[in-house]
Amino acid sequence: MRPELRVVGEVPSDVDAIGSVVASPQAHPEAGYLAAVGFSGKAGESATLPGSPMRVVVGDCDPRRLGAAFARAVKRHRSAAFLVPEDCAVGPFAEAALLASYRFSKYKSAAEESALERLDLVTSQASAALDRARVVARAVGLARDLVNEPGGVLTPQVFAERAAEIAATTGLEYEVWDESRIAAERLGGLLGVARGSTQAPRLVRLAYRPDMADHATIALVGKGITFDSGGLSIKATNFMVDMKYDMAGAAAVVGAMSALRDLTCPTAAVAWLPLTDNMSGGDATRLGDVLRTRNGVTIEVRNADAEGRLILADALALAAESQPDAIVDIATLTDAVPMVIGRRYAGLAGNDEAWIARIAAAARRAGELVWPMPLDGVERKMLDSKVADVVNATGNRYGQSAVAALFLKEFVPDGLPWAHLDIAGPAFADEDDGELTAGGTGYGVRTMIELLMSPDGARTP
Ligand code: BES
Ligand code: MN
Ligand code: ZN
Repeated sequence: MRPELRVVGEVPSDVDAIGSVVASPQAHPEAGYLAAVGFSGKAGESATLPGSPMRVVVGDCDPRRLGAAFARAVKRHRSAAFLVPEDCAVGPFAEAALLASYRFSKYKSAAEESALERLDLVTSQASAALDRARVVARAVGLARDLVNEPGGVLTPQVFAERAAEIAATTGLEYEVWDESRIAAERLGGLLGVARGSTQAPRLVRLAYRPDMADHATIALVGKGITFDSGGLSIKATNFMVDMKYDMAGAAAVVGAMSALRDLTCPTAAVAWLPLTDNMSGGDATRLGDVLRTRNGVTIEVRNADAEGRLILADALALAAESQPDAIVDIATLTDAVPMVIGRRYAGLAGNDEAWIARIAAAARRAGELVWPMPLDGVERKMLDSKVADVVNATGNRYGQSAVAALFLKEFVPDGLPWAHLDIAGPAFADEDDGELTAGGTGYGVRTMIELLMSPDGARTP
């Protein structure tokens, strides 16, 4: 992973660029030059002063924005040093610098690689925080890599193979179910969605167990639609074009799981990843078809584009059977969340206020934005079907994100704390922005890591 990070006591003599924070440009020795290039010292703004080594000034802001802004400002240099202010934590700074330096260029003939190979942090702070920053940034990068891979490459089978590789190299237990096993296990929701595709579905289970005997176990469930065409309820081109990212929930779970062994996480985690694409092939699930899921609940499919909840139904029921202390699912489930509150927030819902509060607190610590969605504004009878136990989509547009969450709730037994993160907005970015890079963002990886790492999240909710 580039750049290579080090903590140093003073600026090495051979660096190409030296960065520092400038709060008031008027007081800078080269105030005239800074004024001429229009540098006002706004948070996260940067400017370069010519010379060798080049000097980079960044307007004061929080450590994450600072790290991202500096990494972007020096991306064409081979080595750089940054004079870390006393009150700037090196961990978040380093994490953001690594994330802003992320590139997915495997399909570019002329790769515009980040040239930055080495970043020296000039500080007296201990370097231990860098170890965690590297592990977390690598985990987010793994999730971004999975999301950025085109849907025609990252089929359910290929996703499962990559997840197994990551599990093997990061010390996780793993298991992959093929189509016949999925049928034997009665995952009717997953099979129903996969029916329109020539690609067979997969179900991946990953597990991490800490060495200490006394620990809580959290189940993580991630939506893994490797491409969402809408099925027979086919999407128009502009709504379909980025739908390779409909597996971002599953990717975030893989990313988070990959970090747990290196971080000596005190909580056990079991991941359940249902993987399929949603296509409209000759034998695709017809509207009006009825699917029978793992826990015996039957679903009338009234919209083939509400497929995420069909595969999550099976995965949630499976996760619950293994009797974890609590469940979190993460899914690019409904367009309505970004429509209402914008692209940066995930919607958060669940069946247990204390558990929801824990997720919100973990997200806050991780620097990821979540917004609570009430479920009592929608009614269970909206899910009533004339032919089956529930419908997968109501006949109107009201409360789509809450309705989807209410649907998922049907597959979690009463008394088992469950929370749901709808990441349709923040999982993907159109442009580079701070520590985000265009494409998959890896949103949710850090919230889940925080949740599992915190002593609070580790105890039975
Ligand atoms: N994967 C989509 C949701 C989505 C849309 C994620 C845009 C990211 C960006 C999901 O499968 C879907 O199609 N949801 C429908 C549900 C509706 C048919 C009830 C939606 O949100 O419109
Ligand atoms: Mn869909
Ligand atoms: Zn979808």
